[in-house]
Amino acid sequence: MKEHFEALDTRIAKALQGGGSERVAAQHKKGKLTARERVDLLLDEGSFQEIGQLVTHRSTNFGLDKQQFLGDGVVTGFGTIDGRLVYVFSQDFTVLGGSLAEAHAQKICRIMDLAMRSGAPVIGLNDSGGARIQEGVVSLAGYADIFYRNVRASGVVPQISAILGPCAGGAVYSPALTDFVLMTEGTSYMFVTGPNVVKTVTHEEVSSEDLGGASTHATKSGVAHFTAPNELEAIRELRRLVGYLPGNCEDEPPTVPFTPSDESRPALDTIIPDNPNQPYDIREVLNAVIDPDSSMEVHADYARNMVVGFARVAGRTVGCVANQPAVLAGVLDIDASMKAARFVRFCDAFNIPLLVFVDVPGFLPGTDQEWRGIINHGAKLLYAFSEATVPRITVITRKAYGGAYDVMNSKHIGADMNYAWPTAEIAVMGAKGAAEIIFKGEIAKADDPAAKWAEKEAQYKEQFANPYEAAARGFVDEVIRPSETRSKIIAALDMLRNKVDTMPRKKHGNIPL
Ligand code: HXC
Repeated sequence: MKEHFEALDTRIAKALQGGGSERVAAQHKKGKLTARERVDLLLDEGSFQEIGQLVTHRSTNFGLDKQQFLGDGVVTGFGTIDGRLVYVFSQDFTVLGGSLAEAHAQKICRIMDLAMRSGAPVIGLNDSGGARIQEGVVSLAGYADIFYRNVRASGVVPQISAILGPCAGGAVYSPALTDFVLMTEGTSYMFVTGPNVVKTVTHEEVSSEDLGGASTHATKSGVAHFTAPNELEAIRELRRLVGYLPGNCEDEPPTVPFTPSDESRPALDTIIPDNPNQPYDIREVLNAVIDPDSSMEVHADYARNMVVGFARVAGRTVGCVANQPAVLAGVLDIDASMKAARFVRFCDAFNIPLLVFVDVPGFLPGTDQEWRGIINHGAKLLYAFSEATVPRITVITRKAYGGAYDVMNSKHIGADMNYAWPTAEIAVMGAKGAAEIIFKGEIAKADDPAAKWAEKEAQYKEQFANPYEAAARGFVDEVIRPSETRSKIIAALDMLRNKVDTMPRKKHGNIPL
């Protein structure tokens, strides 16, 4: 019996070595952890159960038969985060550069299949040179098998990707199909074609970092939802993110204990500036309404005129969507619409109530936006809200103008409770522009056109630049003092706890992609 155990121990010890001490040292020298160190940090201590530790590739191409590594360059299995089940794969760059081929892909597919069956999130820790070149088309097939499962799992279990090293070529499409992408600053990059190909094809000179580093994807492309200065922070963020999410689309998100106390927030009564064109930071409003220190902003550095993220209200997860008047006056543009639409769809898929704050002057005008298709992209947000069946609550703090009023979770597109502050202005457009259009003739004929214009502007403002016309028609359910907002939202979320709503029977809708 002893020799059997020894044979097992020898194999396990070999598997734990990864690509060997030299390559592990090289990995550490780059400021990166090994695949196993990452898994150990990610999961609750001692909870990791490995699957496929002894798997090897079967290729004999280009001397690969002499390069056998137990586990084939990816550590896969399951464990817990704060006691809740998750599946994880962690690519091992020390083994053939973490490159993906048949056996490596099969291991990832295996845990994805298990995650789907048992209803738990999948977290992928990516650090790979891409398709294993020696294995040829088998490697491409392996990627496609994963992509297929990413799509099948989409909306069934949360899928989260951390990019902790290279991720290039077609490999980028697996993270892109998942719900959230987190990148480490300075040590990770993602691109479809690298700097050398870019130079050959377009003659552009660009570094890997500029082309596809964390900052590029967090600010310019929007591919990365989160960035972290190092791997320890990255893993902490992954654990925090999982804490907001249910295991699957049938589950409710986890709750944290909450003790009711005085829910009034007097500071909100003075947050809106007297001058309607003066900005304020919507995050101050959000922070006053949600449970203290409970937020996790998503896409914080991308399309900053829209704020989206998770938070808790009375201990329950909510998804917050808010125009940000402090950036571009909170205008809706292409990037903001897409950012919010994707977030709304995630929340809806995973039973996370939506809390929407509106202060929007309208859609951004101009040829740039029109030629790039603001019509289609703005429609995505309209579509996402309209099809959402989770509890949906809206608070209009100030401006709600034009089509943007409709789009931002208005009553008309299915919101459950709509509140407005007394400072709300709900109208087709701003009073100045409206007066100019509808009283053009009268203003032109007046002895003092400027005075006439001001008079008409005041008249329009009196009638529409307030929440009462909308309240009279029931388009807002209640006009509330800002300080009451948190208690109103807690009551509304309680009231909507058992909300049931369904979409008409169909195969699937056709969101304007
Ligand atoms: C096999 C690979 C590999 C790969 C790296 N290695 N990438 N082995 N297939 N794709 C191996 C190296 O041979 C080396 O082995 C070890 O991993 C570490 O690589 P280094 O080059 O020494 O590391 P570094 O200098 O850090 O450079 C990392 C790298 C570079 C930038 C990722 O290795 C690289 O450019 N690799 C090729 C990337 C690529 O073109 N992949 C295919 C992309 S196309 P030893 O034994 O020396 O330690 C693709 C298509 C997917 O992925 C399609 C899906 C539809």
